[in-house]
This record gives sequence, structure tokens and C-alpha cells, in this order.
Amino acid sequence: MGGMLKTILIHPDPRLKKVCDPIVDLSDELRVLASDMLETMYDAPGIGLAAPQIGVLNRLIVMDCIKDGDPEPMVMFNPEILSSSDDQSVYEEGCLSIPEQFADVTRPAEVRVGWIDMDGNPREKDFGGLWATCVQHEIDHLNGKLFIDYLGPMKRQMMTRKSQKMKRERTRA
Ligand code: NI
Repeated sequence: MGGMLKTILIHPDPRLKKVCDPIVDLSDELRVLASDMLETMYDAPGIGLAAPQIGVLNRLIVMDCIKDGDPEPMVMFNPEILSSSDDQSVYEEGCLSIPEQFADVTRPAEVRVGWIDMDGNPREKDFGGLWATCVQHEIDHLNGKLFIDYLGPMKRQMMTRKSQKMKRERTRA
């Protein structure tokens, strides 16, 4: 490792509401960015991180949903959901950009995802369980969508206010 930890943006921030641009040229710079994002995610700690969360408006996400056992770092350039199951599942989600707040979100239980890997090769894989929730949550970030956007307006406003307060406190510190 030995990369650079990035600062994670805290909601509300206009950069977290943007639709990100597809990656056209998979440069070494983007590969370094991906490994810095993994390091930042592990350090947080979290199980997923999307490029807009560090202020980079490109379609790039990283994940590792293994809690115990050998790490399984995943880097996805231009990830997209190719198909979703009719079955739904509910997970209590959180987000590194909305610290210390959690809420149940219902999403398709299984998804098939296509992406470009670190070597520039196209990949496809089916995800279930926590991985399915995580990959959908991260791809949402690339479309300017946060998990609180699935909640009712009252709860969303409450969580936004708490997040804003936390952001002010961190800025002051
Ligand atoms: Ni998130």
C-alpha cells in the first residue's frame, strides 16, 4: 500500500448530487486513485467507496464486503447493473458521507453487474447478500443518489441536519 488517504466529503455537498462521467481512458493516474480509494475505505473503515465521495466525478467504485477472513478488494470502472432480481432484501445501510447514521433500505436481493477491471478488461458477475446491497449503494453514488433518498422526507431531513452538524464540527476541529 503506502498510498494517499483521501478526505471523504460529508453530506450535504453538491458534488455528492452529481451524475458522474464515464471513464474513457483508463490511465495510471486512475489506477493510483483506485488504490488510494481502497486504502481510504479500509482506513475509515467502510465496505465501499465511490469516487464522488472524494470529490472525483468519475464512474469508479471500490468495495470489500469481507468482514472476517482474507480481504477481497474490488475495483470497478464504469460499473453498471445489467439485471436485478425480483426478490428484494432489506439491509441497514450506512455511508461514509453520512457518518454514524443508519437506516433500513430495500433493494433487489441479487444483481448482475458489468464493469471494467484494473487491467482494462470487461467483467461480469452476479452479486448477492451484502455485496449486492453494497454495489447498488455505490453505483447510486455515481448517479448522485444517497441511501437517504430512499427514505421518507422527514427522516431524510433529520439525517441531513445531523450530518450537517457533524460536518460543521469536523470543520471547526
Ligand atoms: Ni455511501
